Amino acid sequence: MKSPRSEFFDGCTVAVTGGAGLIGSFVAEQLVDAGARVVVVDDFSKGQRANLKGIADRIEVREGNLEDQAFAEEALGGVEMVFHLASRAFGVGYSSAHHLDMLEHNERINNNLFSAARRTRPARIQVVSSSCVYPDDGPDTVPELPLFTGEPEGVNLGYGWAKRFLEQKAVVFQAQTGIPVSIVRPFNIYGERYTWVGQYSQAIPMLVKRVMDGADPVVIWGSGNQRRNYLHATDCARAMVSVMASGFTEPVNIGTEDTVTMRELVGLICRLSRVSPQVVTDTTKPEGRFIKSADSRRLRTVVPDFHVAVGLEEGIVRMIGWYHASFGVGAAVGAAT
Ligand SMILES: NC(=O)c1ccc[n+]([C@@H]2O[C@H](COP(=O)([O-])OP(=O)(O)OC[C@H]3O[C@@H](n4cnc5c(N)ncnc54)[C@H](O)[C@@H]3O)[C@@H](O)[C@H]2O)c1
Repeated sequence: MKSPRSEFFDGCTVAVTGGAGLIGSFVAEQLVDAGARVVVVDDFSKGQRANLKGIADRIEVREGNLEDQAFAEEALGGVEMVFHLASRAFGVGYSSAHHLDMLEHNERINNNLFSAARRTRPARIQVVSSSCVYPDDGPDTVPELPLFTGEPEGVNLGYGWAKRFLEQKAVVFQAQTGIPVSIVRPFNIYGERYTWVGQYSQAIPMLVKRVMDGADPVVIWGSGNQRRNYLHATDCARAMVSVMASGFTEPVNIGTEDTVTMRELVGLICRLSRVSPQVVTDTTKPEGRFIKSADSRRLRTVVPDFHVAVGLEEGIVRMIGWYHASFGVGAAVGAAT
C-alpha cells in the first residue's frame, strides 16, 4: 500500500532548488522514494554532487544560478511542484558581518523564483524560511508568531529580513495566483552533508572540527550557556515533505522544544571523540539569543507522525564521520579556509 506521501508525489515532477545542499539533498532523496521525478536546481556554490550520489541516476540536475532570471524560468520549466531551499546559508560569523549581502542575494533569488513561477504555474510551492525571522525578545520556545512587530534576530538581521520578505511574497503570490504556497521555518539544522566554509561555518560543524583538530582549549562563542534546539537534516527534510503533502499553508516551525547548552554540546562532542580538552568561552563573540527552541505543536498537528529519528548523539557520531570524510587522510573535500 502506498503511503499518503507517495500518493501525493508519485509521478509528479518536483523541483528542489538548493537540492544539492545539506537539507535539499535529503528532500530530493525522500521525494525520489515517494515516486517523484526530481529536478535538482543548484549552482553548486555550496551544494555538492556527492550529496546526490545515492540518487544520481534517478534525478535530473539543472545547474545554474537563480540570480539569473532566464535560468530561473528554465529551472522551473515543466515542473509541477517546487521546494525552494536555495539561499545563501552560512554561520553566524558570516551573517552578522554581511547583512546587506545576505539580503540582496536572497532577494534576487526569491524574486526570480516567484516571477518564473507566475509564468510556469506549478501546482504548489514550498518556501523555506527560518527561525531567524523571530525577534530576539520573543519567548524561549517560539510559536509561529506573526512577523509584523520587532526586528528579526539581530545577528541575522539581513538574512532574517530576506526570509520575512520571502514569506510575505509567498502570501501575496498565493492570493493573486491561487497557487498554494507552504511556508516552513526550520530552527538549527545540521548533518553530515554539510559543506565546510571555514570561519563562516555553522556551529556544530565548527565545533566538531575544532575538537577533532585537537584544539585545546576549545573556545565557545558567547557564554556557553546559550541553549539551542538542533534537528538533523534528514528529520527536517521529512517534516518539509510532509508539510507540503498536507496542503497546509500557514507557517510551520520545524524543530522541537528540546534544547542543549553550547557547553553540553561541546561536552558531547568531546566524549564521542574520546578527547578531554579544556573548554573556555569568548564573550566578545556573538552568541545570539540565550534560549531558542521551537514550539512544535503546529508541526505535530499538521504532521501527526512527526518524530525525531536521528537524536543528537547519533547526529554527532555522523558529524564525526563527516569530519573524517572531509578532513581525514585521503579526504575528498579539502578544508577551504
Ligand atoms: N541549516 C540550517 O540550520 C537552516 C535553518 C533555517 C533555515 N534554513 C534554510 O534552509 C535552506 C537550505 O539550507 P541548508 O542548510 O541546506 O544550506 P546549504 O547551503 O547546504 O544549501 C543551500 C543550497 O542552495 C544552493 N544555492 C545557493 N545560492 C544559489 C543560487 N544563487 N542559485 C542556485 N543555487 C544556489 C547552494 O549551492 C546549496 O546547495 C536555506 O533556504 C536556508 O536558509 C537552514
